[in-house]
Amino acid sequence: MNATTIRDVDVAGKRVFVRADLNVPIDDGRITDDTRIRASLPTIVNLLERGAIVILASHLGRPKGKVNDALRLKPVADRLAQLLGRPVRMTGDALGPGVQVAIDKLRPGDLILLENLRFRADEEANDPEFAAALASLADLYVNDAFGAAHRAHASTEGITHHLPAVAGLLMEREVDALSRLLTKPARPFHAVIGGAKVSGKLEVLEALLARCQAVLVGGGMANTFLAARGLELGKSLVEMDQLDNAERIMAEARRKRVRLMLPTDAVIAPQIHRRAKTQVVPVDAVPKDQMVVDIGPDTRSAYAAHLAKAKTVFWNGPMGVFEISQFAEGTNEMARVIARRTAAKAVTIVGGGDSVAAVEGLGLADKMTHVSTGGGASLEFIEGKSLPGVEALLPAGAEINFPKEDA
Ligand code: 3PG
Repeated sequence: MNATTIRDVDVAGKRVFVRADLNVPIDDGRITDDTRIRASLPTIVNLLERGAIVILASHLGRPKGKVNDALRLKPVADRLAQLLGRPVRMTGDALGPGVQVAIDKLRPGDLILLENLRFRADEEANDPEFAAALASLADLYVNDAFGAAHRAHASTEGITHHLPAVAGLLMEREVDALSRLLTKPARPFHAVIGGAKVSGKLEVLEALLARCQAVLVGGGMANTFLAARGLELGKSLVEMDQLDNAERIMAEARRKRVRLMLPTDAVIAPQIHRRAKTQVVPVDAVPKDQMVVDIGPDTRSAYAAHLAKAKTVFWNGPMGVFEISQFAEGTNEMARVIARRTAAKAVTIVGGGDSVAAVEGLGLADKMTHVSTGGGASLEFIEGKSLPGVEALLPAGAEINFPKEDA
C-alpha cells in the first residue's frame, strides 16, 4: 500500500486513536462471527507491545445517531478481552468529559474501547467539530477499518485533517490483496459472482468484465439473467425491473469476449424450508410451483472445470440459499474448488459477507489467499471507486496506482 503504516512511526508513549471495523453480527447479545475482531488484533497487539496508549473506536450496526442498548460494544469488548487475555475497559460514550478523564488515566501499553461511534449523529455526518474533538484525544491516528473505508465519516475521514494518519496492518493487507485483482492479475482471471440480486452487483459486474476472462454467475441473480434470455423460472426470485440491465451485461460480455457462464441446471424446491422436497431440473424446465434454490450438479461440474484453469479467482456471493444445508452444495463446492486453486498457487480472493460466512463455516478461510473483512468496501474497491478512508491515508496527490482496465 502506498501509505505510511504503523510500522513506519514511533508510537511509544503516544496516544493512538485506532479506528477498527468491529461491526460484527450479534444475535441476542452473542457474537455469531468474530472474524472482524480477530482480524483487528495484529494492529492492536503491535501497538500495545510497542508501548502505545491505544484508544480503540468502531461503529456497530446502524443506530442512526441515537443510543441503542442492543448496539452497545460491550460484547465486542468482552470478546476482545478473551482474545487478548487481558481486561478491556470501555467508555460510556464515544466522546465527552468522562472519556477524557478515562484516557488521562491510561499508561503506555493500556487499551480502552470507546462506545459505538454511531450513537453520535455527528459521526456519519462527518461533522468537522466532532472529528476535531475525536482527534484531540490522541497524538496519532491509525485507520484499520477497511470494512468502513467506503464511508466518509468523522472517524474514517474527518479526523485525518487534524492528526498524522497512518494505515493499520489489516488496512494494508486488504488494500494490497485486493489491488492484486486490479494490477495485472495472473490470467486466466475468473470471477464467481452470486447472491440474491443483480441490482446491487451491476457495477462490480461491469468492472469484472473489463478485467476477467470469465464470470461465473450463480445465486438468485442468475435467475434474472436466465429470465432475460426468455426462460420461465416458476416461483423463483427474478428482478423483472433488471432484465434490461442483465441483457446489457450479457451483450457487453459478448463484445469484450468474456465468457459469462450461467447455470444449465438447478436444484428446485416448492418453498425455502429445510425439509422441502428438492429436485434437479434443467433451467428451462422449472415448474410453475417450484423455485430455484441452488445451482445443479452439471453447473457445479462445469464451473469447477472452468475454474480448474484459473490463476486468479475472485468470489463474491453464494450460489444458492446456502443457509439451508440441502441448498448449500453449490456454494460449498465453489468454496472447495477455489481453495484447491490456492493450493495450486492461484491467487484466490473472497470478498463480501455471505461468501465469507460460507468459507468460514467450511473451515476453508485459511485456504484462500485472502478473505476480505469488507463487504461493500471490497466491492467498491474492485469497481475502481476511490474509498475515502483509504484516500485519506495516501500522501497528497498519490493514488493507489492501478490501471482502470487491463491493457
Ligand atoms: C459493513 O458491515 O459493511 C461495514 O461495517 C460498514 O457498515 P455500514 O454499511 O453500516 O456503513
